[in-house]
Amino acid sequence: MSIIKCNELLYIRRSVPDVTQVETFLNRFGLITCAKQGESVYLRATDPVHHCYILEQGPARLLGFAFLAKCEADLRTLAAGTGRDVEEITEPGGGLRVRLKEPNGYDVDIVYGIAVPEPINVERQAVNTGREPTLRADEPLRLPRGQATPVKRIAHVVLGTPLVEETAAWFRETLGMLPSDEVFRTAGGEQIASFLRVDKGAEHVDHHAFLPMRSDTAGFQHVSFESQDIDAVMADHHYLKSMGYEHLWGIGRHLLGSQLFDYWNDPLGYAHEHWADSDRLSATATTGVWEAKEGMVTQWGEGASEQFRHNVKP
Ligand SMILES: [Fe+2]
Repeated sequence: MSIIKCNELLYIRRSVPDVTQVETFLNRFGLITCAKQGESVYLRATDPVHHCYILEQGPARLLGFAFLAKCEADLRTLAAGTGRDVEEITEPGGGLRVRLKEPNGYDVDIVYGIAVPEPINVERQAVNTGREPTLRADEPLRLPRGQATPVKRIAHVVLGTPLVEETAAWFRETLGMLPSDEVFRTAGGEQIASFLRVDKGAEHVDHHAFLPMRSDTAGFQHVSFESQDIDAVMADHHYLKSMGYEHLWGIGRHLLGSQLFDYWNDPLGYAHEHWADSDRLSATATTGVWEAKEGMVTQWGEGASEQFRHNVKP
């Protein structure tokens, strides 16, 4: 029995030496600058969430990330259960938070009551398929060119960690997360990954919102955003390439989670994923158990490079 059951991932917080340099990358990746306070910059996606990315001035470092509480009473329960306080957030959007530390030392803010903006409407045309060939009848497909497609929302964070079991247990026991798939180096051997989703009961949620992955040192492995659709992942690949950014892995289709994915490094080498079409599971889905050689593969596209696997930053 966990202390609470949290809702989805809400934002990530990093410090960077040159805020404008990383903000420019994020704008070209599809995030929209929505607020500034002091030297900090806040960026949003098109879903109605105040901000999903915070950049602060400082050394290159992941500071932490946040999940949404289901209600204010859950914040009080979490504060009482962890010996922390409920604090007012003095940043754009306001709201309340309980700030925890996960086992690798990163901040995990559980928040509630941040202002909710209107969604940003992005016009996307239907796509014909063999089974439904006239979804776009009499209407030529015309995609925007030479610009980023705004991303829909933040989706998951992956941490590299030498403490896979301990980290996964903390997120299960504190925030009620559920294991979608567990990966072991060999059957009965060392655990290398735990794909965790949030528990919203009968509601279907992303296959994973948080994933600790085996690494010699703890750190940021990647942060992931849902694109508007598959065309957006493909078109934005070419847009980021034209802007001269470093491509890390993709395009391909994961096995675990099934997303069509594409990974890009920001100017500091921190990996950012675009994806479309994830598996969605309710709380009753069973947990998959895999050996690495069967689970950590693609359905199509090249396998993960050594560079991707070891791309863990502080
Ligand atoms: Fe991912």
